Amino acid sequence: MPIKINIAVELTDSMLAKAIMNDLQAIPNVSAVQWFDSMGEKGASSVKDAPQIFIIDDRSDRQQLNNRLALLREGFPSAAYFVISSDQSPQRIIEVMKTGVAEYLVPPIDSKVLHNAVEDIRAKLANEGKIARGSVYSFISSKGGLGASVIAVNTAYALAQKKESSVALFDLSLQSGDASVMLDVIPETSISDLVKNFHRMDASFLSAAMTKAFKRLDFLAAPTSPNDCQGISGEHIAAIIELGKKLYDHLLIDCTSMQVNDGSLEAFDASEKIFVVIDLSVPAIRNAARLCELLEKHRVPPGKIEVIANRFIKGGTLSLAEVEKTLETRVSWLFPNDFKSVISSINKGIPLLKFNPGCPLAKNLASFAEMLKKPQPNEKFRGIRGTFGRAI
Ligand SMILES: Nc1ncnc2c1ncn2[C@@H]1O[C@H](COP(=O)(O)OP(=O)(O)O)[C@@H](O)[C@H]1O
Ligand SMILES: [Mg+2]
Repeated sequence: MPIKINIAVELTDSMLAKAIMNDLQAIPNVSAVQWFDSMGEKGASSVKDAPQIFIIDDRSDRQQLNNRLALLREGFPSAAYFVISSDQSPQRIIEVMKTGVAEYLVPPIDSKVLHNAVEDIRAKLANEGKIARGSVYSFISSKGGLGASVIAVNTAYALAQKKESSVALFDLSLQSGDASVMLDVIPETSISDLVKNFHRMDASFLSAAMTKAFKRLDFLAAPTSPNDCQGISGEHIAAIIELGKKLYDHLLIDCTSMQVNDGSLEAFDASEKIFVVIDLSVPAIRNAARLCELLEKHRVPPGKIEVIANRFIKGGTLSLAEVEKTLETRVSWLFPNDFKSVISSINKGIPLLKFNPGCPLAKNLASFAEMLKKPQPNEKFRGIRGTFGRAI
């Protein structure tokens, strides 16, 4: 879980305070309260949750601001302070920054700038030992077109429906990158921009490179041109995921089908679970067997790997039992075949769970996301029931 950040906003301009409160409330895992009458000066014992960040006004003269900061720091010595000032003169900015405040912000305040400043503090706190650990899940299909991206996108959307959870979807299917189409976003930045500026990589830089797809769901795009994929190393991917874990509760990674390279191995290494997507067809199963073998060869613990079957049709030509015998593993989840719903949702660029939440596949995807958060007490159930309501 990323660290929850409490923020106290103590500003005299009530319109500005309201605008800032609105921006802060849109950031996941942030609780913002407005303080009046210099409440902070009464010290930590006066509040329930001590703020890690204070947002306060600049004062007309230097001494006044210094006094105020000194009083606040007495009660809240480890908090970070953001000062809001309409004075843009470099001299004043330097003066204020010298007092050790974390940010100097000039209105009108861009919500993205504010968000990044908050994430910076969150990352600093995480680095101080209170490490936040988001859970990471990778999705890889055993053959192109089996549905890894559809499943990753919709699972991410389902997880983001819960308030107080923050979700990121990383598109590591570097040469195809369909997830942005499914989310109908046009990202301005991609993984290759992060890699090109790797020396600047920190939590706020990653946060700025994320594209907002939906409430509580951010997206990191694959490079638009295959040329840009060169030069993306395992080390880059590992660092990006490590930072992502500090910023988000859930990190879902959409991988290129069948690709096992330095980058994807880092993703698998960071993942709690690696979902290998198959359908019940001979080529998919043959490839899945090869993929699992390859993963094992690269010392990916078999316990992390889960085979999931998409486009499942009851009574299809290959039986589940045969498939499981070939793969020597249980297929842990079944997603029903529903081409019409999926294709309309993709064409509209709206996740199926939003586009048609009542259809069987959307309900199934929602249960899959639920199961991720808390493994099913009834392990037999894997998304679809037989004629008499029994788990298949
Ligand atoms: N459960 C499903 N039922 C029917 N069609 C599906 C289902 N899931 C995916 N598809 C179809 O498969 C296509 C490929 O899916 P995609 O997620 O892009 O595959 P991958 O990422 O594995 O290459 C989609 O365009 C959609 O038409
Ligand atoms: Mg894909």
